[in-house]
Amino acid sequence: MTTVIQDADAPAADTLEHLEIQGVKKDFGATTAIEKLDLSVRQGEFLSLLGPSGCGKTTLLRMIAGFEAPTAGRILLSGRDIVSLPPHRRPVNTVFQSYLLFPHMNIADNIAYGLKQAKTRKSEIRDRVREVLALVRMEDFADRKPEQLSGGQQQRIALARALVNRPEVLLLDEPMSALDRKLREEMQLELKRLHTKLGTTFIFVTHDQEEALAMSDRIVVMYDGVIQQIGSGEEIYANPVNGFVAGFIGKQNFVPAEVTAADSAGARLRTANTVMESRSLTAGPASASGDRKALTVGDKVRVAIRPERMRVTQVGAGATEVNTARGRILSVSFLGDVVQYMVQVGSNDEILARVPAAGAEILKPDTEVDLSWDADAVTVYTTEDGA
Ligand SMILES: Nc1ncnc2c1ncn2[C@@H]1O[C@H](COP(=O)(O)OP(=O)(O)OP(=O)(O)O)[C@@H](O)[C@H]1O
Ligand SMILES: [Mg+2]
Repeated sequence: MTTVIQDADAPAADTLEHLEIQGVKKDFGATTAIEKLDLSVRQGEFLSLLGPSGCGKTTLLRMIAGFEAPTAGRILLSGRDIVSLPPHRRPVNTVFQSYLLFPHMNIADNIAYGLKQAKTRKSEIRDRVREVLALVRMEDFADRKPEQLSGGQQQRIALARALVNRPEVLLLDEPMSALDRKLREEMQLELKRLHTKLGTTFIFVTHDQEEALAMSDRIVVMYDGVIQQIGSGEEIYANPVNGFVAGFIGKQNFVPAEVTAADSAGARLRTANTVMESRSLTAGPASASGDRKALTVGDKVRVAIRPERMRVTQVGAGATEVNTARGRILSVSFLGDVVQYMVQVGSNDEILARVPAAGAEILKPDTEVDLSWDADAVTVYTTEDGA
């Protein structure tokens, strides 16, 4: 008997392609849910699909699981096209948002259900159920009914029920969205622990960017049925390829601007309330459908500056002219590790600044402040219409 369950020092994810999605498209009548899409998932990686509601995350997952047939394209698992296989013949299992446990069966029978359907030997079923219950730390709950478990415990059982089949790929569609914040964070750690222990390929759907950043080896950012960017959390956060990703991952200040000078060292830009210097030579597109453009004088663009790149000082602390702005604090939020200020600059710009809380004086609303930032904090994107 081969076993997929490996011990903790199993080899780490390598760069072997495990699942290849090639030219896959999905139409529902006149609606295109997924535009022609290519994606390679590596053996043993934790990949997250992240994007706003309706961007096609569940549809993509359902095509991998076999609950939905692609309108076009191929899905290869270890080199074999699985599109014609029904869901139960694919070495893939799904954990759904609603746990879908059978209410009248006890936990052990819920977990054993798929194995019984597959006519697995009784003694093997017993061993495997015990094994996965230990894996999700629920050994003592085998005889309970689902209604006798908390939400977090039911979530663990839903995981166990998927893992008992020893899938090569585990699909998770927003599995934590019904849990409160504390429990969710615990389950995130638990899921990471399981992933490391098993070495199974995980594809995890979420619309929560913090969750994706915390969990994933790589994140696939989707919007409107199109992949916007694929990369590690650090890559996507530090170098978003377009305005959509820049705004969707992490907090961002976007300010309309006009390019007033551009050379090989960077650009100078004028906004309604200040003059900025940027190290950027090009503007990223608004979304995946556009191209990166060289900056030229007269271009109307949007600049983006992360709140944590803003320095906040009381007026008069010696601000220079470029990459500074004077404003008035509208609101102050103490977030524990950082203090967040919303600062009104001029009549129409509201700028978010986040400064480390440790050792800093917390300023009061209505205080006049100078904001300042470095030229390498200023990134540039074209406007929606590409002007
Ligand atoms: N069976 C269906 N028939 C028609 N349209 C569908 C069907 N399933 C999904 N769609 C449409 O396809 C698009 C993508 O839906 P999908 O459920 O994949 O989004 P999602 O990214 O999972 O969103 P959410 O975060 O809200 O779960 C949506 O516009 C949706 O209305
Ligand atoms: Mg969904």
